[in-house]
Amino acid sequence: MTRPLYARPLLIALLFCTGMPLAAHAATVASVESPGKVLKAELDLSAEGRISYRVQRNGKPVITDSLLGLRLREGAQLFGGFKLTRQASKRVDDTWEQPWGENREVRNHYHELRAEFQESARDLRKMNIVLRVYDDGIGLRYELPEQPKLGKVDILNEFTEFTLVDPQSATAWWIPAGEWNRYEQLYSATPVDQVGIAHTPITVKLGDGTHLAFHEAALVDYSGMWLQRVAPGKFRAALAPNASGAVSRQTPFTTPWRTIQIAPNAGALYQSSNLILNLNEPNKLGDVSWFKPHKYVGVWWGMHLETQTWGVGPNHGATTEYTKKMIDFAAEHGFRGVLVEGWNTGWEHEWFANGWVFDFLKATPDFDLEQLAAYAKSKQVRLIGHHETACAVSHYERQMQAAFDMYAKLGVDAVKTGYVCDAGQIERQDHADGPILREWHDGQWNSNHHLRVVTEAAKRRIAINPHEPIKDTGLRRTYPNWITREGARGMEYNAWGVPPNPPEHEPMLVFTRMLSGPFDFTPGLLSLTGKGGIPIQTTLAKQLALYVVLYSPVQMVADLPEHYAKYPDAFKFIKDVPADWEFTRVPNGEVGDYATIVRKDRNSEDWYLGSVTDEHPRTLQVPLDFLDRGKTYQAQIYRDADDADYRGEKRYAFERDDQNVTAQDTLTVRLAPGGGQAIRFVAPR
Ligand code: NOJ
Ligand code: CA
Repeated sequence: MTRPLYARPLLIALLFCTGMPLAAHAATVASVESPGKVLKAELDLSAEGRISYRVQRNGKPVITDSLLGLRLREGAQLFGGFKLTRQASKRVDDTWEQPWGENREVRNHYHELRAEFQESARDLRKMNIVLRVYDDGIGLRYELPEQPKLGKVDILNEFTEFTLVDPQSATAWWIPAGEWNRYEQLYSATPVDQVGIAHTPITVKLGDGTHLAFHEAALVDYSGMWLQRVAPGKFRAALAPNASGAVSRQTPFTTPWRTIQIAPNAGALYQSSNLILNLNEPNKLGDVSWFKPHKYVGVWWGMHLETQTWGVGPNHGATTEYTKKMIDFAAEHGFRGVLVEGWNTGWEHEWFANGWVFDFLKATPDFDLEQLAAYAKSKQVRLIGHHETACAVSHYERQMQAAFDMYAKLGVDAVKTGYVCDAGQIERQDHADGPILREWHDGQWNSNHHLRVVTEAAKRRIAINPHEPIKDTGLRRTYPNWITREGARGMEYNAWGVPPNPPEHEPMLVFTRMLSGPFDFTPGLLSLTGKGGIPIQTTLAKQLALYVVLYSPVQMVADLPEHYAKYPDAFKFIKDVPADWEFTRVPNGEVGDYATIVRKDRNSEDWYLGSVTDEHPRTLQVPLDFLDRGKTYQAQIYRDADDADYRGEKRYAFERDDQNVTAQDTLTVRLAPGGGQAIRFVAPR
């Protein structure tokens, strides 16, 4: 039937808004299926030579027409006018070992498609698209080969799109990008269409229950990718800003991988994050067995409670005497590390307002660094170093090598770094009297800064834990001394109470921030109280569960020694729980509601379980089929008491039970409002 003429403009306008005319003319030029034929990705080329991609899961579209291309400062955009000149495919199935991590072995099983495009006219520039398709996600990146008409490339932005099928029924969990507070906001759950501009990972649940997470892998010499809503259900990559106005590269180069994890439920989404590691280059550091996952205490919480100070004065935290006490406490309870903040000069004034006065080589007069480092060693404990830059990053870089040399000489083999300032206020000064340029925490320059720190530290066998970092994109695979980081809202907010973290925060983190990698959240706040008595919104048992639920190869034992003395039963779990795992499984969970994670210790036959909920109580059935068949384990259960509740004094209500269990049993896990549960399954000895 011919459509009446008058209806056409409306139809055309409609098609134009949704971007459909492109699709109507586009032809599929290449495609690749995952090894188990679960996912299929297709590349299309429109009549104008614009490249786009689509993804389906089990034959059902998940990502529909999504454009690809790069916007350059000079010359024409790398967007349109392309023809496909060659395509090649590859099948890979290998397994590699993590020196430390959530799982010892990681299987890397994918089908790859490399599609080579060239402009049909103008400069005949070349751009390749590489797709790696796994059963639970895809990676996609641009490859710019060396070529006569494309040498230095200034990328203003990308055209890369992520277009959801059926966005009306989709929910997104996200934090905004481009705001002052880097990555430390509370997550929002909104219809996907209400996302403005978001950091990655961003998690989305479609109407049919499919879970997706958009992120990136191997962010090296490039700006971080934000996702900006540009049409209903459509996001476009927006690169974090750079002082120079662009990401500058020289061909040949590749961009970071743009990643989409796709899973049938929240638990499977968490398990699929091996994708991020798999898309990174193998270990470049060789033997890193000198780094031992561990727990650590610190001269730290007192400063956040404001009972101690970073700067010298009557309440200075980092004194020789107090640090000795912390070393004794760590040695007595078997914690390897003692972090000391405020040990160096430069904290005396408003330190966050001026990082140019920090001296990373000079201790305060009341802190005997050499004596303390030796004392710690004599007790099988190590000091953990601290380099807060307050964002005077070039100033820090000028002292960095000498500062690492000094630490290495003293046996300090882990350093926490810090970048406290508003987003976009990283201070870069290329020459001693040159201008100060302002960079972003996740801009190209700062992404390179982090790698300078990590590689300089690695030369001296030092591990790095940055706070106010750049987001994690799996570079721990390549640089396994980049052990953990902050990059989300941690425990410190519970000290400040601005406001304290809500009960849903941790089950939210599991399926959002934690998809990217380890988090130095600093759990274990058994006093459940912040500055001036502000109640922390969790139960006691939930604090224990966090050691299993929020993975990091270094876990802080964040509370004050005198507080732990009051809770010897609960403290036992913190002493027992390891920080390095053989396997990880996710028996249940829903984004922002609850999560149960079980992990097997890498150095024994014991398993550990952590379960956390939001403000709602839960009763969860957990089949113990992860345990070895034929063995009877002693389950040491640390649970919420029957009347526990995160509100008021009942947050301390806590019980310890023992029970014998086998792989055939199903355990009923009861969580109080805002509660949690931690279990150690002790294997027969
Ligand atoms: C913010 C960090 O997250 C915190 O752990 C640290 O104590 C302060 N900056 C000072 O460096
Ligand atoms: Ca912080």
